[in-house]
Amino acid sequence: MKQLYSPSNLCKYVLFFCLSTVLLSCKQDHQPEKVEVEPTLKEAYKNYFLIGSAVNDNQISGKDSLGVQLIKEQFNTITPENSMKWMYMEPAQGEFNFEMADRYIDFSKKNNLVFIGHNLVWHSQLAPWVNEIKDNEELSNSLKNHVQTIASRYKGKIHGWDVVNEALNEDGTLRNSLFLEKLGPEYLTNAFKWAQEADPNAELYYNDYNMTKPKKREGAITLVKNLKEQGAKVDGIGMQAHWSLEGPSLQEIEESIIAYSELGVKVMITELDVTALPNPWDLEGAEVSQNFEGSEFMNPYTEQLPDSVSNQLAKRYRDIFALFKKHQDKISRVTFWGVNDGQTWLNNWPIENRTNYPLLFDRQFKPKAAYHSVIQVAKDSTL
Ligand code: XIL
Repeated sequence: MKQLYSPSNLCKYVLFFCLSTVLLSCKQDHQPEKVEVEPTLKEAYKNYFLIGSAVNDNQISGKDSLGVQLIKEQFNTITPENSMKWMYMEPAQGEFNFEMADRYIDFSKKNNLVFIGHNLVWHSQLAPWVNEIKDNEELSNSLKNHVQTIASRYKGKIHGWDVVNEALNEDGTLRNSLFLEKLGPEYLTNAFKWAQEADPNAELYYNDYNMTKPKKREGAITLVKNLKEQGAKVDGIGMQAHWSLEGPSLQEIEESIIAYSELGVKVMITELDVTALPNPWDLEGAEVSQNFEGSEFMNPYTEQLPDSVSNQLAKRYRDIFALFKKHQDKISRVTFWGVNDGQTWLNNWPIENRTNYPLLFDRQFKPKAAYHSVIQVAKDSTL
């Protein structure tokens, strides 16, 4: 017993104690770190709204395999970026080409993606023969045939159709398209009615850009009210959302979401991208026919986006999604216009051959700071 507390033994105890403390702390240091796996976009927003992307032919054909992987992982709804527009669907009068559109539909079915048809009636990317029609009755019959043939072919397979795209001017009056000029405003009601007859269960939308501008907003509200009064079914309004770092303001966006929702229709953000490049003459919107000369000044980030701008983009996306989340009861879908920065149409519009950075995934298909901020918004219970 005496020996137990001898000075030499005490020394041993102290040494043992020190050693085991060091060993224990070493063990703790080497325990695998808890890595928190970030949810995907569709998981993060599953209780709020659908999250989608425009997809292109390279993805549908499988050539862009990394793009396909992201689509399957991140999104639960898709919209064809180009292939269902008039010039591709009916390139010659009465001659329809369903091949690509069928493949898009198959892809969405196979991958359990909600499919949005884009679009049935639009003045852009129209087949040239339509402009050649001299007789108004022939034009009306062609429009009817186009809408009915396509909508009935995909009856039951399409969740919703952008029935009419961009029928308004910036001041809220009706755009003087070929259809308005020759057929009068009835072409709008007819297009919705023909689509409904062909596919009664599909949701039907009016889709346009600059839908946050007060005058255009008033025009859109009047248009949808008129359509409904004339017996057309309108289920939703699509706000394209080709936005920039500066505008539209959050207030304009919020007022618009509320105003559209008060019409009793679903609000959708249908073509979201946020340009990080200077805009020629502060151009707003997405009028695809507008094109401007390029210059170094207009294409400042050819190698990479500076951190300062990348942070601005992340902040802008954060603010926008916080607003969308706040109005989740009104918004049914948010669709990005493209999967990654390498593929965005904004590399070529409104100036060709620029290097733009408007989406959540970079040219290597990696999530950007903007992606993480969008996910953070979904997770933040205070928002
Ligand atoms: C764009 C496509 O992204 C481009 O590839 C094409 O060259 C032009 O059209 N509003 C719309 C979309 O409704 O269909 C447009 O898509 C972008 C503006």
